[in-house]
Amino acid sequence: MIPVTKGMRDFYPADYRVQEWLFSIFRKASSLSGFEYYDCPVVEAEELYVRKAGEEITDQLYTFEDKSNRKLALRPEMTPSLARMVIQKYKEYPGKIKWTSIPQCFRYERMTRGRKREHYQWNLDYLGEKSMMAELEIIATAIHAFELMGLSSENVKLRISNRKLLSDLLLGLGVAEDQVLGVFLSIDKLGKIKDDQIIELLVKAGLDTDLASKVLDVVYLKDLEKVKESIDACGASIEGYTEIQELFSLLTNYGYSDYIEFDFSIVRGLAYYTGTVFEFFDARRSLRAIAGGGRYDNLIQNLADVDLSEKAKGSISKEAVGFGFGDVVIFELLKDLKLLPELNLEMDYYLIPFSEDEVAYLLPIVAKLRKQGFTAEMHYPPQKPKKMFEMASKRGAKNGIIAGSMELEKKHLKVKNFKTREETEVRFSDFMESIS
Ligand code: HAM
Repeated sequence: MIPVTKGMRDFYPADYRVQEWLFSIFRKASSLSGFEYYDCPVVEAEELYVRKAGEEITDQLYTFEDKSNRKLALRPEMTPSLARMVIQKYKEYPGKIKWTSIPQCFRYERMTRGRKREHYQWNLDYLGEKSMMAELEIIATAIHAFELMGLSSENVKLRISNRKLLSDLLLGLGVAEDQVLGVFLSIDKLGKIKDDQIIELLVKAGLDTDLASKVLDVVYLKDLEKVKESIDACGASIEGYTEIQELFSLLTNYGYSDYIEFDFSIVRGLAYYTGTVFEFFDARRSLRAIAGGGRYDNLIQNLADVDLSEKAKGSISKEAVGFGFGDVVIFELLKDLKLLPELNLEMDYYLIPFSEDEVAYLLPIVAKLRKQGFTAEMHYPPQKPKKMFEMASKRGAKNGIIAGSMELEKKHLKVKNFKTREETEVRFSDFMESIS
C-alpha cells in the first residue's frame, strides 16, 4: 500500500466536516468585514518566489518542470500570487482592495507540532491604505474569527511589533543598513532556537559579538516606554513608534485591548514586510504561531517593476497589509481546549424499502424531498430491517420512510420520527403533497 506523502494530510469525511466548520468561520468573518473572495492556481512560475534575502520559505519550495520545461512551483504562500493578480489587472483594480482566500500551500518544512508540508491558509489582504486602519481591519477580522470559534483573550494573544521601529533602533545601535534584513531573519528564530545560536546567526549576518548581544537585549524589551527611551537615547526616528501607538489606540477603541501585547521579538520570517508585523499565539505559548502578517508596502511595486511601465506602476495600489492563518495550529489549540465541535452526520429522511419492489415506489419521494431542500437517502439494496435501521442511525437520520409489500399494496407509507419513536401511516399521495 502506498501511504499518504509525508507531511501531507488526507481528509476523511469526519475530518472534512471539521475543516468545513473552520472554513465557514473564516468565510463568515471575512464577509462580515467586507472582504471579497478570490482564488488562483496552486501552480505558479518558480520565478515568482525568487527572492535573494535568505528566507527559509525559498529553500522550502516544491519545484518541478512541466513537459515544456517550464520551471514551476507549488505555492508556499498566497501573497506573491495576489500581487501578481493585482499587477496583471491593475487597470481594473485601482484604489483600495479588500480580498480574502483560503489557499492550500506547500512548504518542504522540518516537521514539528503545528507545522506540516501542506496546509490551508486563510488570507486577508487590504491594499491601497496608508494608515493603520488597514492593520486594524485585518486584525479585527482575525480576532472576530477567533471569537466565533469560542476563543477569547484568555486563550489567544496578538503580539505586535514594527519593523521600521526596530530597524531605526538597530541603525542607532550601529547595525549597518545592509545588515538589517539579516538581523530580522535571525531574530525571527527567537524562541525556536537557543539565544547563543541567535548570537551566532547575528554574527553570520555581519555583527560583532558585542553588537549582537546588544541587539538581543533590545529585542527583549517588552515595554513600549522603554523602547521610546532607547529611541530618544540614540536619536532614532519615531515614525515606527508613532505607527504602533496609533494601532494600539485603534485596537483599543475597537474593543480588543485585552488581546494585544507589544513584542519586539516579532519580526516575521518573510523579507517583504516594511512596517507593522504581528503574530497570534496561544496564550500559554505552548504552540507555534497560529497566524501572522504585517505591512508589505514594497512587494507589489517590486514585482511590478519587472513588467510595468512607470505610468502603470503609478496606478497600482502600493500599500498593502495582510495576514495568513493556517488550519494546523488552530486545530491543535481547539483540540487542547476541547472546543472542537462534535459534527455528526445529519440527514432529514432515510428511506427504507423492504424489497426491490418498494425501491421504485419510493424513488419519487427521494426526488421530491431533495428538490424541496431536505437531505434524503435511500437504503440500497434492501436488506434485513434491523440492518437498515442501524444504517439510518449511523447516517444521522431524523426520520425514516418505510415501505414493505403491505404499504405498497395500499399505496401507503410509514413515517417514523427516530427521536420520539412515533410512527404514523400516511397515504403516499398525501405525503407527496405535504413535502414543500
Ligand atoms: P507565514 O507566517 O509564513 O506568512 O504563514 C502564515 C501562517 O500560515 C502561519 O502563522 C501558520 O499558521 C501557517 N503556516 C505556515 N507554514 C505552515 C506549515 N508548514 N504548516 C502549517 N501551517 C503553516 C505568510 O505566509 C504570509 N504570506 C502571510 C501574509 C498574507 N502576509 C501578508 N498577506
